Amino acid sequence: MPTTKPLRILMTGANSGIGEVAARHLQACGHALTVVCRSRERAEQSLSWIQAPSQIVIADLSDLHAVKTMAHQLCVDGQQFDVLVLNAGLQYAGVDRPRWSHQGFELTWAVNHLAHQCLLQLVLPLLQDSPTPRVVITASEVHNPTTGGGRVGQPAGLGTLAGLDQGKGAAMVDGTSPFSADKAYKDSKLCNLLMGLELSQQQPQLPVICWSPGLVIPRTKDGFFRESRKANPWGQAVFGFIARDLFRLTEDPERAGDHLVSLVLGQHDATGMRYLSNHVVAPGRHIFESTEPSPEATDLERAHTLWTLSEDLINSSLQ
Ligand SMILES: NC(=O)c1ccc[n+]([C@@H]2O[C@H](COP(=O)([O-])OP(=O)(O)OC[C@H]3O[C@@H](n4cnc5c(N)ncnc54)[C@H](OP(=O)(O)O)[C@@H]3O)[C@@H](O)[C@H]2O)c1
Repeated sequence: MPTTKPLRILMTGANSGIGEVAARHLQACGHALTVVCRSRERAEQSLSWIQAPSQIVIADLSDLHAVKTMAHQLCVDGQQFDVLVLNAGLQYAGVDRPRWSHQGFELTWAVNHLAHQCLLQLVLPLLQDSPTPRVVITASEVHNPTTGGGRVGQPAGLGTLAGLDQGKGAAMVDGTSPFSADKAYKDSKLCNLLMGLELSQQQPQLPVICWSPGLVIPRTKDGFFRESRKANPWGQAVFGFIARDLFRLTEDPERAGDHLVSLVLGQHDATGMRYLSNHVVAPGRHIFESTEPSPEATDLERAHTLWTLSEDLINSSLQ
């Protein structure tokens, strides 16, 4: 059921881009946000619009210890939530060497997937008292090698998950592909869907909504393509012009943020996992609808294995 009463929302990735649009809108409608930001400095730069009862908590998602400390504090403070929004994400396509998290995992996978599973596991009990709990996870259609975005470059695919057996220092989840920041991003988004699937198996009554916002290329120098722009400024400028201005394949950040708001408010709830994609159907025209994820993203056994191996890596990192 869509909610009208004020919700308590714990959200990552609310200080920029799609998440910021959604978070500002939700706060303006009277919902209380707890926004996870990477540092005090970044919070000062980008979250001056947060007003009580909304609040800021600090955790750099590239550091599992920081995630644990922040989540532990929320538990100690007796915080309760209705909605958990796992929206933070990064990519650095165009950079040819892997970057590493504090615990030595490839950065894209560590932030987009591992930190979010860690946070999810630690704060899930804080949703238990909610009459309308839900989890919203921002994935991407590039998880699916048959979609427009997923077809470009190397496809998503986790192989035998050998990279997780290798643990720290593995550049790719499949443990065999040469490093590709673009594939690392696609793989991390596939992991988002598999994590949502496994969560819905463990908590059959909990609505778990994964979604894809479509291609969103802001005109600012910040945002999702910031690292790729540093690596290849001209290439990214041409890509932005062609995709956004010439062929109009991109989604407006405001509309993508509105879709996230609708998910947070429960307008697309269903028991179990649901995937909605905002896909382009004609120049300048998107449809936001329930969509079948890729076959790999619907593999229950794979979802369970990914969860278990990720949990092992989280636990061994936090010892
Ligand atoms: N833009 C697209 O075309 C597109 C397409 C499909 C899916 N998505 C997904 O949509 C979500 C939002 O992306 P966006 O386009 O809004 O990009 P964005 O403007 O770059 O926002 C990403 C958010 O993630 C946060 N984040 C990244 N690394 C972090 C870390 N180590 N610790 C804490 N927070 C961190 C960022 O915080 P800082 O600002 O402090 O870095 C920011 O709030 C992501 O999950 C992305 O994968 C985007």
